[in-house]
Amino acid sequence: MPFRRLLTGIVCCLPIVLFAQPALVPWPTAIELKEGIFPLKQVSVIEGEGAQGWGRMLRSDLVANDALARNQDEILHSVRFQRDTAQGEKGYAITVERDRVTIDAATRQGALNATQTLRQLATKDSTGTRHWPCVRIQDAPAFAWRGTMLDVSRHFYPVDFLKRYIDVLASLKMNIFHWHLTDDQGWRVEVKKYPRLTEVGAWRTEADGSRYGGFYTQQEVKEVVAYAEARGITVVPEIEFPGHCTAAIAAYPWLGCRQDTIAVATTWGVFHDVYCVGRESTWTFFQNVLDELIPLFPSPWFHIGGDEVPKDRWQACPDCQARMKKEGLADEHGMQAWAVQRLQKYLAKQGKRMIGWDEVLEGGLDSTAIVEVWRGDDEARKARANGNAMIRTIYFDASPANLTLDKVKAFDPRVDGDARGILGAECPVWSERIDPRSIGWYVFPRIQVFAERMWSGEVHDGIDARIAPHIARLEHEGWITATADKDLFRSAVRFDPGTRTWRATAACGRPDMQVQWAMGKDSGVFVDSLVVQQTGTLRLTPVWNGNAVQDPTVITITPNKALGAKQEVSPLPSEKYGRDPLQGLTDGLLGTASYGDGLWQGWQGVDPVVIIDLDSVRTIRELSIRCLQQVPAWIVLPTSISFETSPDGKAWTMLATATHQVPIEEAGPLVHDFIAHARTPIKARYVRAVLHNSGKLPAWHLGAGGDSWIFADEVIVR
Ligand code: ACM
Ligand code: ZN
Repeated sequence: MPFRRLLTGIVCCLPIVLFAQPALVPWPTAIELKEGIFPLKQVSVIEGEGAQGWGRMLRSDLVANDALARNQDEILHSVRFQRDTAQGEKGYAITVERDRVTIDAATRQGALNATQTLRQLATKDSTGTRHWPCVRIQDAPAFAWRGTMLDVSRHFYPVDFLKRYIDVLASLKMNIFHWHLTDDQGWRVEVKKYPRLTEVGAWRTEADGSRYGGFYTQQEVKEVVAYAEARGITVVPEIEFPGHCTAAIAAYPWLGCRQDTIAVATTWGVFHDVYCVGRESTWTFFQNVLDELIPLFPSPWFHIGGDEVPKDRWQACPDCQARMKKEGLADEHGMQAWAVQRLQKYLAKQGKRMIGWDEVLEGGLDSTAIVEVWRGDDEARKARANGNAMIRTIYFDASPANLTLDKVKAFDPRVDGDARGILGAECPVWSERIDPRSIGWYVFPRIQVFAERMWSGEVHDGIDARIAPHIARLEHEGWITATADKDLFRSAVRFDPGTRTWRATAACGRPDMQVQWAMGKDSGVFVDSLVVQQTGTLRLTPVWNGNAVQDPTVITITPNKALGAKQEVSPLPSEKYGRDPLQGLTDGLLGTASYGDGLWQGWQGVDPVVIIDLDSVRTIRELSIRCLQQVPAWIVLPTSISFETSPDGKAWTMLATATHQVPIEEAGPLVHDFIAHARTPIKARYVRAVLHNSGKLPAWHLGAGGDSWIFADEVIVR
């Protein structure tokens, strides 16, 4: 690294203004700054032998900055691209002198990489005039696969967004955009032979009744692929198989083992309905889908997902069982391996190399497949032992409060310090909690660090200072970025029994964010906390730069006679969930569709008893308790709740036992009110309720035989 050492030496003894470290991300292999500048004025771009089109991106940049000479007589400075086979497939050299710039590259990709470096090198002096500092740079990537994945199923990202995103990726010399196009919550790509995939499969009905969705036409896919390709980025499509396909089965029920009508998923997680690989009709479908989609993507790779496939539908399906017998497969895991390999052979015939998430290793995998490792080093070691090339991952959908920037800096794509077989890595962005408004929070500045790790092989000193102008530019372009290792937004509402008011508190990830609140006709803005004196529906929306960065958090406060009443609960609810075991059932705050919202009280495997003291004898017409069902999270409605009343807490009178008709097959989240009506009004001070647990989880559940949970909130007395 002689160049870098030279730079450090020069910085010590020459004016900083001329030789400040350029804000290059990723940092190049070698850089030697020299005296002088090349003004960005009256420039011509010349393409040397065989360099057709190499200068296109640079030329349009210069036009945008009014730097390109308009005619021959005006040319003062020139940029020349020339072929130099010594630069390798992706590498380049740049020499900036006072009147000329020379770019040496062997390939178009090398020339594009050089162009991205030049774009970052442009500097404004105190008069606002742009220039490049005189410099000599020699550069080439450490890892071949420098990618990110975007999940457009859980939330949809329009084409214009994708282009802006691809621009940023390209500026960081990332070269792979892995497009996760299908999942349980939405099928996002047009397939002409199967129109219901997008008529039905691209849309879901949310809990509030609204429709959510979207998809890309084949024309739009081509547009995105071409846009990326012009910027040196290969688009790798992912079509999930044989799991994560609820949206496809919702469109064509005959694709599932049970062939029954299901809805596009509206919650997150792993779903039981997977493709029936026993019936040939499923294979015809999937091959037809591939036949239509493969021509849209010049990528030599095709990602088939392969992750998180529950086996219970296959176990119960006569067609799948017959298939296992016919193919001599020992069990359902063997059938998964068989299905993956059948697909791999089909793709190979079309000239595509298959990629799958690391579950594709289960039951045996052909060593020519590429394994995308997401579950950790053990899976990476298995892939290496099996001879598969692999892509490592660092998931960027984690909150910066959990995955801090220092942890991103420490990310090492190698396995046990060894880079053998490692093509590179991706920083996947799963979109359950992320959409176009908030994605910047999760991606910037992490991806700048990631890009440097993947390009340079290490994260060099001074990265924070070099990143700063990039982040400032992104914010100027409207991206929200994470300025600290914090959650984007956190809020809580607590009841104060003394004043019988509620206090909403909120923590925003950035100091320049605000919280907008609205309740009924009232609304306003607060920074730290808000006192609420009335019941109703409170909406809290985090806002940055005048725009919401997330959907509002909606909190419902209900009036009722038990508000603020003392509660005695036996046994106490789990500390993992409800925030307030003393008042959580009588604080007026209703649990939401999210079991982790802190408002639900949870008990596992027991029949909790709740006693409410209304403080004086009151007239009671109706008692009710709300309970949540979210079966994949082991939360099941109690079979029944019995309600009793008492004037003194000693002598109890049974009022009623409330039951329900909701089958355990209803995944949820859904809220059921267990209600007991008094035929004539009752005078009582105490209310007792016993919630009867539904017992062990059934055989088809992923947690079969485990104790189910009761989630309750709240006790309402009217
Ligand atoms: C995955 O996260 N299920 C690949
Ligand atoms: Zn089947």
